[in-house]
Amino acid sequence: MNPINWQQFGLRKNPYDTLPLIEGGDLLIDKAFIGRSAERKFLDSLFESNNRICLTVCGDIGVGKTSLANFHKFIWKYTKEKLLFSFRREIEANNDLLNKKTFLIEIIGSVLREIRLLDPDLLKNELLKKLSQIVDISQTIALSGGGSAFGFGLDFGKEETTTTPIQLSATLLEEHFIDLVNFIKNNKIKGRTYSGLIVHVNNFDIILSSEKGKKMSIDFFQEIRDILQTPDVYFLFLGPKNLFKDIISVHQRVKSIFYQTPLVINPLSKNEIVKAFEERMQLLKSNDVASYIKPVEDEVIYKIYDLYNGDIRSIMASIVDILGQYSEKLAKPLSVNEAMLLLGKERWEKIENIIKLTDEQKEILRYLASAEKFISQKEIVKIFNKTKSNVSWYYFKPLKEHNIIEEKNIENRTPYYGLTADYIPLKWLINSQKEVNKSIDDKSKQLPLNL
Ligand SMILES: Nc1ncnc2c1ncn2[C@@H]1O[C@H](COP(=O)(O)OP(=O)(O)O)[C@@H](O)[C@H]1O
Ligand SMILES: [Mg+2]
Repeated sequence: MNPINWQQFGLRKNPYDTLPLIEGGDLLIDKAFIGRSAERKFLDSLFESNNRICLTVCGDIGVGKTSLANFHKFIWKYTKEKLLFSFRREIEANNDLLNKKTFLIEIIGSVLREIRLLDPDLLKNELLKKLSQIVDISQTIALSGGGSAFGFGLDFGKEETTTTPIQLSATLLEEHFIDLVNFIKNNKIKGRTYSGLIVHVNNFDIILSSEKGKKMSIDFFQEIRDILQTPDVYFLFLGPKNLFKDIISVHQRVKSIFYQTPLVINPLSKNEIVKAFEERMQLLKSNDVASYIKPVEDEVIYKIYDLYNGDIRSIMASIVDILGQYSEKLAKPLSVNEAMLLLGKERWEKIENIIKLTDEQKEILRYLASAEKFISQKEIVKIFNKTKSNVSWYYFKPLKEHNIIEEKNIENRTPYYGLTADYIPLKWLINSQKEVNKSIDDKSKQLPLNL
């Protein structure tokens, strides 16, 4: 893989960066954000007609949940008639967060950090000073590996003049949280008056992948139920498709305070993704060029879109993989055939240099990759004259472990295997080599696959 020179396209930096769009990011969020008009309309009307909300935003990893929440927060922070304050960074859901005290401290800390960014003078306020102290101390304890931040007593001085350390109770933190919400409503922040606060909690995906995490999450929502009903606070919880069904709706008393259906996010359309890339390139265009050059033709994006069912992060990563294969200066955007060949080469290089399959394993892989249909282990046993356990352990196991092949279907209790989406480009490589071999009567000596 070669380092990619983005300047050759008239770009200041990589337009295929997979980070979510965020207020203050390299890509201006209000410009770079594309589509989602139905979702935005729904969110707007929900926020307009309520003075508090608990909503789950659900969808697969990488579909654009975080970017949507960030864009929604941005619009409501700066452009609406009823403005709602928010912090640009979301709160990350993880095992440590899942208790009331830590959750409250995270919210308070995030709000203070945002105020520090926008209007640092406000931090002279007594309440904010006190809250900063609490957050600082909890951070210090967390950094020193002190486990539960408030498991042991802490002395916050001021009100407590005795030497007995005070326990920072959840109730006290809750009062602080409400004080903070009132502060937001009663004080201008950078010249703006806000009517409330949006709290954005991200990424329940990872936690919910374990049974223990699921159970912890269910308990967590029970525990924070009262916080979730704070007037003028709008909660967005982002996670996988089962977040609402498997966590929120388990207990009626939790479910009843949530909006009753999750907002489900599906992949952007092909055209929206093409448009998103164009917008990014426009935003990242070098100042001294008249226009940027597209690295790949739109058809390339369509083809990879189909391969990954619209998963934009995989699409962006693949384009970077393709461009990293190309060491010459590009005279014009890469065509589908060129791009697919390069992507296949990139995947093959990975197998050669990183995964390091043996020659025999590569031979089997080549067979699987060029087959027109899915293949069972039995067929390999027969064709290559190997033992059953050899095929299973020596050939299929590493291919499965490296996510090169996967079970595609089962017939008569026999599993059939094929390439994963990541490695289907090997097929394209093989096919294009066949084409080349057919059209030019060449000995294919420079081709990596030696068919
Ligand atoms: N509406 C959108 N317009 C433009 N780019 C988007 C949009 N939604 C997501 N993206 C891009 O797609 C990628 C994945 O989005 P992200 O919000 O991180 O997804 P998720 O939170 O669901 O995992 C990011 O690089 C982001 O910039
Ligand atoms: Mg996300």
